[in-house]
Amino acid sequence: MTAETMTSPVADTTIHPVWVRATHWINAVAILVMIGSGWQIYNASPLFGFHFSKSIALGQWLGGALLWHFAAMWALVGNGLVYMTMALITGRFRRKLLPIYPSDVIADVTAALTFKLAHDDLSHYNAVQKLLYTGVILCSVVIVLSGVSIWKPVQFQELTALFGGYDLARYVHFFAMSAIVGFLVVHVALALLVPRGLRAMVAGK
Ligand code: HEM
Repeated sequence: MTAETMTSPVADTTIHPVWVRATHWINAVAILVMIGSGWQIYNASPLFGFHFSKSIALGQWLGGALLWHFAAMWALVGNGLVYMTMALITGRFRRKLLPIYPSDVIADVTAALTFKLAHDDLSHYNAVQKLLYTGVILCSVVIVLSGVSIWKPVQFQELTALFGGYDLARYVHFFAMSAIVGFLVVHVALALLVPRGLRAMVAGK
C-alpha cells in the first residue's frame, strides 16, 4: 500500500467540482430565460421574414419580455464571470478545454460518426466536446457584448462601433443566439444519450 492510499483510502472521484455544477445550472436557467424573452423582443421588430411562435416566447408582450431579458442578464453575466474567473484560477480551461488540435477533432468526429467514440472516462473531454464547449463560451461572450452594445449604444458607442454599428450588432446578437440554440440541441441530446455524464453534472461524481 502506498503512502497516498494509506492516508486517503477512498479515492476522490469528483468529476465536476461544486462551482462548475452550480454555475452550469444557473447558466442553463438564465440562458433559457434570455432566449425565450429574446424571441419575444425580436417579434416586436423582426430582422427576417418570420416570427417566433408566442407559445415558445417568454413575457407575453415587448415590455414583459424586456423585464425578463434584463433580469436574467444580470444572473447570466454575474454567473458567467464567476465561472470564467474560477476556470482561469483553477486551471480548468487549460486542463479540460484546451488545447484543441484540428487533427484530434477530425479523428473524434470520424469516430463519432462510426459509433466508435468512447465515453468511458467522464473526467476527460474529447476534442469535439472541447471545441463545442470553448465555442459556446466564446459565443456567450459575443452575445453579451453585442447585447450591451444594442442596449446602451450611446454609453458604449465604442463597443457598438466595434460591431459595425447598432444595426449590425443586432444581427451579430441574433446569430450568436442561433449558434447557442444549435449547440443546446446537440448538447441536451448527447446529455440524454449519456446519462452518466448528466448524473456527474448533477451529483459531481
Ligand atoms: C439545459 C440543459 C443542459 C443540460 C442537460 C446540460 C448538460 C451538461 C452535461 C451533462 C455536461 C457534462 C458533459 C460531460 O461531462 O460529458 C455539461 C457540460 C457543459 N455544458 Fe451543459 N447542459 C445544459 C445547458 C447548457 C447551456 C445553456 C450551456 C451554455 C450556453 C452549457 C454549456 C456547457 C459547458 C461549457 C460545459 C463544460 C463545462 C466545464 O466542464 O467546465 N450547458 N452540460
